[in-house]
Amino acid sequence: MPAIAVIGAQWGDEGKGKVVDLVAEKADVVVRFSGGDNAGHTVINRFGKFALHLVPCGIFSPNSVSIIGNGVVINPEVLFQEMDMLAAAGIDTKPGHLLISDRAHVIMPYHVILDDLEEGLRGGKAIGTTKKGIGPVFSDKVARLGIRVGDLLDKGFFEQLRTVLDYKNLLLTRVYGVQPLSLIKIYEDYQKHAARLKPYVCESTAVLDEALKAGKTVMLEGAQGTMLDPDFGTYPYNTSSSPIAGGASLGSGIPPRAIARILGVFKAYCTRVGGGPFPTEIPGEMGEFIRERAQEYGATTGRPRRCGWFDAVAARFSQRVNGFTGMAITRFDILDTLESIKVCTTYKLDGKMVTDFPSSITTLERCEPVYEELPGWQTETCGVRKFSNLPEAAQAYVNRLEELVGCPTNLICVGPERSQTIVKKRLF
Ligand code: GDP
Ligand code: IMO
Ligand code: MG
Repeated sequence: MPAIAVIGAQWGDEGKGKVVDLVAEKADVVVRFSGGDNAGHTVINRFGKFALHLVPCGIFSPNSVSIIGNGVVINPEVLFQEMDMLAAAGIDTKPGHLLISDRAHVIMPYHVILDDLEEGLRGGKAIGTTKKGIGPVFSDKVARLGIRVGDLLDKGFFEQLRTVLDYKNLLLTRVYGVQPLSLIKIYEDYQKHAARLKPYVCESTAVLDEALKAGKTVMLEGAQGTMLDPDFGTYPYNTSSSPIAGGASLGSGIPPRAIARILGVFKAYCTRVGGGPFPTEIPGEMGEFIRERAQEYGATTGRPRRCGWFDAVAARFSQRVNGFTGMAITRFDILDTLESIKVCTTYKLDGKMVTDFPSSITTLERCEPVYEELPGWQTETCGVRKFSNLPEAAQAYVNRLEELVGCPTNLICVGPERSQTIVKKRLF
């Protein structure tokens, strides 16, 4: 059985956690392939309610193996807190059920400090990062200054850390004028982390290769969303690793051709947290109404999420770069009370229609959304389990999104719980 990737199709927080938890019941292996603890994936199932930042949402499935892949960046303290929290809730987080790639990069104390200092320097143009050290750790990965999980276990770790920290302390003291960090303290702390990580560390590509060859179902869990991709997102208001389907191969070591199904997770509207252009953002009372009804507050930072109408220009672009084989439309129930619902079909720029998502944010900022208005259904949908039982207007809304995005719908989520899902087209 080839692999299936679950990808954030908008600006993150689409409900990937819920979808992965649901689909993971049928998966043998679940791999997180990008991002770090900037992610916050909410899962509500029979074990309780969880916001996972690093551990794959497949962890609740007793028969599947969860892997933190090479493309993920790990803050060990955050990971351990999460593992302890899960263990306290009776979830198995033992080595074997959870595995960690030796190639995953590690978030060091200076990454978190530098994320905060860099954001401060940007002033009014701050990206609105989660301040978890994500930009700095991925910069170090590319600059060949990173420390990987495997390095923590290596005899050469002290010397490696000394070299990097000499440089980071110059940056901290001479550029930013803040206190240097202690080599010994970091070394001792990360030696302790290494001891706890050790039993989990593996050559994850071998585990995945074996699983694929044995015909097992591998699921790739995306973090963030396509419009936050460093290449295809609203650069520079983006994250620092690739959340798209291509990133799933890169961040796990699975060959691209092994990924046969790509499920794009879309909210039935849009949200964005942090700075950057957001053409369909709803100003004023309506935006606030959706935020309050949906409780659109970040699972990682608690920040209010900006709310907007479904942006089909961005969605079509997302479909283009990911090649979704199907959509999961989440938070459908949030629209239940609305009299009418807007969908942005094109942008208008200097009197001309724009159907391609612009690469430049200055262009994007000047684009005005052109809306099509669809009738609302004004009926509660959270108890519906069959597409044909949805009100006609609700079916028409889904059909219109399919047309605009250009791909079929597999799942429609009508509530945050696992069971609150309509299967429109079977995934397996
Ligand atoms: P992720 O980062 O993509 O996993 O998404 P988050 O967990 O950050 O945010 C999605 C939020 O929507 C969470 O609070 C979920 O519990 C919730 N959610 C997911 N699907 C639905 C749905 O269909 N209806 C409602 N009302 N909430 C949902
Ligand atoms: P999940 O996986 C929504 C956003 C931040 C900021 C930008 C850069 O839960 O969907 P970073 O800390 O990554 O350097 O911040 O990216 N961002 C997210 N927004 N959901 C996420 O993850 C996000 N991860 C990062 O708000 O705008
Ligand atoms: Mg989230």
